[in-house]
Amino acid sequence: MADTPSKEAWSSRVGVILAVAGSAVGLGNFLRFPGLAAQYGGGAFMIAYFISLLLIGIPIGWAEWTMGRRGGLAGFHSSPGIFYSIVKHPIGKYLGIFGFIVPVMVYMYYVYIEAWCLGYALNAATGTFSQPGVNFGDFFANFTGTKQDGASIHFGLHDVGIFVLIVYVFNFYFIYRGISRGVELVCKYAMPVLILIALIILARVLTLGTPDAAKPDQNVLNGLGYMWNPKDIATGLKNPQLWLAAAGQIFFSLSVGFGAIITYASYLKRKDDVVLSGITAASANEFCEVGLGGLITVPAAFVFLGVAGIVGQGTFALGFNVLPYVFSQMPAGEFFATIFFLLLFLAAITSSLSMLQPGIAFFEEGLGLGRKPAMLFLGLVTALGTSLVWWFSKDLKALDTIDFWIGTVFIFLGGAVLIVVFSWVIGIDEGIAEAHQGAEMRIPALYKPVMKYVTPLFLAAIFVMFILANVFGWNFSFADAKFQPTGYITDLIGPNPSDSARITFGFIVITIIFVALMIKLAGKRWDAARKQGGNNS
Ligand code: ALA
Repeated sequence: MADTPSKEAWSSRVGVILAVAGSAVGLGNFLRFPGLAAQYGGGAFMIAYFISLLLIGIPIGWAEWTMGRRGGLAGFHSSPGIFYSIVKHPIGKYLGIFGFIVPVMVYMYYVYIEAWCLGYALNAATGTFSQPGVNFGDFFANFTGTKQDGASIHFGLHDVGIFVLIVYVFNFYFIYRGISRGVELVCKYAMPVLILIALIILARVLTLGTPDAAKPDQNVLNGLGYMWNPKDIATGLKNPQLWLAAAGQIFFSLSVGFGAIITYASYLKRKDDVVLSGITAASANEFCEVGLGGLITVPAAFVFLGVAGIVGQGTFALGFNVLPYVFSQMPAGEFFATIFFLLLFLAAITSSLSMLQPGIAFFEEGLGLGRKPAMLFLGLVTALGTSLVWWFSKDLKALDTIDFWIGTVFIFLGGAVLIVVFSWVIGIDEGIAEAHQGAEMRIPALYKPVMKYVTPLFLAAIFVMFILANVFGWNFSFADAKFQPTGYITDLIGPNPSDSARITFGFIVITIIFVALMIKLAGKRWDAARKQGGNNS
């Protein structure tokens, strides 16, 4: 076992559920989900989304909770340590690399967007968005520096700079306070507050009626219909990109395969329930995503701008250009804009905190660092990545590059490794029996073949489609096959490569190598501790 056993623990069952739900509920729920659902036209996307929830989100979530608790009982809280305690082979510890790389590197850009949310909340509160003639597109471009690399390294109210520093201090302050006095405390207050805010905004959106009598079609019902009416289902479901988007959203939104749940669950006790807790946290996420996020953004934009305000906008434009405009058109718009961005900020911070703990846990138990040095080291590493994202802000190139390679590709791989280890290395029977220890509900019997066969095969199919679509750029047509790799690939290998994408990609590769070396070092420490302890936990 690890030679420095952690004294951290959750103070209550509700606390851990709120923390996992807090990790899940984030920008993905209120920005990414509505953006994708609108882009893919509601109905068909929702079918693929719910199938992915049942085949990916829920089973991998259960596996992650169970493996986390098992690793914690063996004295480990970091993903490499937990995997090493389960897969007792030198390679085992490297299987846990995803649970370090994903949270730490997603944090690097996630926190940058978190800073936008805080900045937008403050700007809304101080009246910036209700000035006559304000151009929301220009404000966003200047605030985030999308026109020019380095353009957002300023520190006024209208620049992201000061907010990046503030969110860093917030995150590291609360993570320093620890699991129960930091993470649990923030989630205990932030989660109910953000749900309350979402309900207030939802009530406002649903009572908007038809604000412009000259445009009777732009009413709330049609806005909801645009988001939810099933249309072109058969055609939609034949589109592989829609499946990729739906599955990717489930991973991102539920934080499964992220490294967060496995670390949080490692602070549970032997008899703590994981099955009901897992499904409760997932349900809370779905309530916030489908029930709240899905009813606010798109209908609100539709009512004021019609279809033109939604189609082709992209997630960020919808959230940071369209919505501030929409709020500015409402009575008491300043108030609603302020609480909306505050809601985004609260959702984001409970998620970003969950991205730090896996890193701290690894530095503590893998490198033997104390909590303060572990935090400082993690602060340094993440600040390096965030600086890159902050500097290469033109077209948000660095952010986009890390989001694609780590926030999409690596999460897929991490999730796949998790379910395969659970079902095939631990073994599905032993895995499910272990999940049932202390459980307050049983995993339905149907999930046994699902976890063993269906989920890995589903993931493999999605991953192959993903590579075909993005790396080879196949249009999925046999009759009229075309191959045009996406920008993520052409940015790296031409014909007109992007320097910022290449530098960012280089940074990702170096980080992965560096982390692999640290895991090797940690393995030596763990082997020595194991020999010394004379046990083989
Ligand atoms: N699960 C988090 C979100 O949805 C990362 O934003």
